[in-house]
Amino acid sequence: MFTLEGKTILVVGGASGIGRSVAEMAAHQGAKVILASRNASRLAMAAEEIGNGTAHTEVDMTNEAAVKAWATALPEIDYLVISASSAAHGPFATAETGPLRAMFDAKFFGPYVTAREVLPKIRSGGSIMLFSGVLSRRPGENCAGLGAVNGAVEALTRAMALELGPNVRVNCMSPGMVRSEAYSSMPDDAREAMYQSTGESLLVGRVGVPTEIAHAVLSSLTNGYLTGQILDVDGGHMIRQYATR
Ligand SMILES: NC(=O)c1ccc[n+]([C@@H]2O[C@H](COP(=O)([O-])OP(=O)(O)OC[C@H]3O[C@@H](n4cnc5c(N)ncnc54)[C@H](OP(=O)(O)O)[C@@H]3O)[C@@H](O)[C@H]2O)c1
Repeated sequence: MFTLEGKTILVVGGASGIGRSVAEMAAHQGAKVILASRNASRLAMAAEEIGNGTAHTEVDMTNEAAVKAWATALPEIDYLVISASSAAHGPFATAETGPLRAMFDAKFFGPYVTAREVLPKIRSGGSIMLFSGVLSRRPGENCAGLGAVNGAVEALTRAMALELGPNVRVNCMSPGMVRSEAYSSMPDDAREAMYQSTGESLLVGRVGVPTEIAHAVLSSLTNGYLTGQILDVDGGHMIRQYATR
């Protein structure tokens, strides 16, 4: 009932981070995996490392025309995971709207268009997992836009679940801070300091790792009674105490 054996899963954002971990775990559980993102060589390397016949296909979710053409060429699938995104930061009072609009293109409109265009390829009984993040309901300084786009994805999740049931279920993973390539542009010591201080504020005493999110994603994809939910896998971030300023 909950098995991935013989199922096909498409992971958009599967070349790195949480998506890569979802793909790896699904392949080990017997699923046929298709990785998608923008960089062909990163995709090819990830597919080879995962093995088990993992396929890959290039797409930029922010190019609506390209997504439409790409989706028509896909095979039928059971599960769609969209972990691809980008982020923009800055204080509310001074942040330029250009980077914020680009983030909405990548993290809201990209998943919207991708899910809409891939939908005809999803078999009845399948499901979709979108991604938001803790900032939707626990704001952080310099993260107003990111919190807002996460909130938009969560609202979209509930609306899609309402419209697509009973054939397709839709849920949203809202991770807390997880060690991933998303932070690879930071200097090593600053990144570790950030992981350390955030981890200390969490109920579990540390930040997460991609496999912990992947485990919950796969279990939710295959649970036929779960739809329209925001899954907080966040080390207790939602109920943590905030440090005083
Ligand atoms: N890591 C965290 O602490 C954390 C916390 C809260 C929420 N989240 C959310 O969790 C999700 C996964 O995060 P992550 O840490 O795994 O990120 P990541 O390691 O940066 O992975 C993002 C993936 O998306 C692909 N991608 C980016 N833009 C794309 C586009 N326009 N079209 C297609 N593919 C694109 C990237 O590959 P290419 O660049 O090669 O295309 C990359 O493989 C995101 O939605 C993120 O906002 C993460």
